[in-house]
Amino acid sequence: MSVPQAVQAPLTKAATFLVLTINPSPSAINTIRSALSSIADLSKNVSLRDLNSQFSCTVGIGSDAWDALTAGTGLHRPKELHPFRQIAGARHTAVSTPGDLLFHIRADRRDICFEFERQLLLKLGDAAAVVDDTQGFRYFDARDLLGFVDGTANPIGPDVPPAVLIADEDSDCAGGSYVVVQKYVHDMAGWTGLSTEAQEAIIGRTKMDNMELDDQPDGHQQAHKTLATIEDEAGNEHSIMRDNMPFGSPGSGVFGTYFIGYSRRLWVIEKMLERMFVGDPPGKHDRILDFSTPLTGTTFYAPPAWVLDQLGSD
Ligand code: HEM
Ligand SMILES: *[C@@H]1O[C@H](CO)[C@@H](O)[C@H](O)[C@H]1NC(C)=O
Repeated sequence: MSVPQAVQAPLTKAATFLVLTINPSPSAINTIRSALSSIADLSKNVSLRDLNSQFSCTVGIGSDAWDALTAGTGLHRPKELHPFRQIAGARHTAVSTPGDLLFHIRADRRDICFEFERQLLLKLGDAAAVVDDTQGFRYFDARDLLGFVDGTANPIGPDVPPAVLIADEDSDCAGGSYVVVQKYVHDMAGWTGLSTEAQEAIIGRTKMDNMELDDQPDGHQQAHKTLATIEDEAGNEHSIMRDNMPFGSPGSGVFGTYFIGYSRRLWVIEKMLERMFVGDPPGKHDRILDFSTPLTGTTFYAPPAWVLDQLGSD
C-alpha cells in the first residue's frame, strides 16, 4: 500500500495552517513541483532541530492546482475532487474561498512550525501567494475557544485509516485523503452571554466533563454533534479526522477555531456542512453558527507521499 502523508499525526501544541494560491507566471509550476518534492527533505532538516517536537507537515492540493501540477505526469485525478461548493442556508453561508495549496504544519514547538514555514516560503519564492496564514495553539485540555473539548469523537488507532484514507474505491489514489478547511471567527460576547446549559445544548456535550448528551426528538433543532453525525443509506456511520485548533488575539478582538477535517470520502464532510448550514430538518441549522462565522472554505486533496516525490522528477 502506498504510504500516506502524516495525516494521522497527533494533535500537537502548535500548528500553522498556510493556504497559498499559485501565481500565473510561466515558471511557477516548475518551482512548486520542485518545492513539493523537497518537502520530505525539508521536514527532515527542520525536525532534526528537535527530534521530540512531533513535527509533521501535510500538503493539500486544490482541484485546479491538481490539474496544473500533474499535467503530463500520468498521475490520476482523485474521483471526488472538486472545489469547495458554497452552501447557503436560510441564515448562514459556508463561503467558498480560493486556495491552491495547503500546508498543515504541526509541532509541539511554535518555533519549529515557524522555521519550516520560513524555509518553505523561501523555496516557493514568488511562485505562490499567501492567502491565509493562521497560527493555532492548544488551549488547555484541547478545548476550543468556546470552552469545549474538541476532537473527542475522532477515530483512534485501527479506526483511523478506514475513515481517512482512500482505498479500493479509487485505487489509483489509495493512501490519499480529502481535506476541507474553514477558518471560523466567534462572537465571544454573544456566546459568553449564554448560560452553560444553553451552550451544552448547542454542542451536545457537557462543558466541564465532556459527556455526550442525548439527541433531541425528531423535528427539534439538533445539537452540533448530532448534525455532524453522518450515516449512509445502509446505516453505516462515517467519521472523519478533525485537527481543529484555536487561534486569535484578545488584543485585536479575534477569537477563532480553524476547522480542518480529513476524510476518505469528500461527500461525508460536505454532508456534515449541509446539515450544519441548511439544517435537519431544513431551517433548523446548527446553532454553533449563530456564534461562529466561516471566513474561508477550501477543499484540497492530500496525496500519498510518493506523489509529492514524483512531482519533482521531470
Ligand atoms: C466553529 C467551528 C466548530 C467548532 C467550535 C466545533 C466544535 C466541536 C465540538 C466541541 C465537538 C464535540 C466534541 C468532539 O466530538 O470533538 C464537535 C464534534 C464534531 N464536529 Fe465540530 N466544531 C466546529 C465545526 C465543525 C465542522 C465545520 C464540521 C464538519 C464539517 C464538524 C464536525 C464535527 C464532527 C464530525 C463531530 C463529532 C460528532 C460525533 O460523532 O459525536 N465540526 N465539534
Ligand atoms: C537540507 O539540509 C541539507 C544540508 O544542509 C541541504 O543540503 C539541503 O538542501 C536541505 N534541504 C532542503 C530541502 O532545504
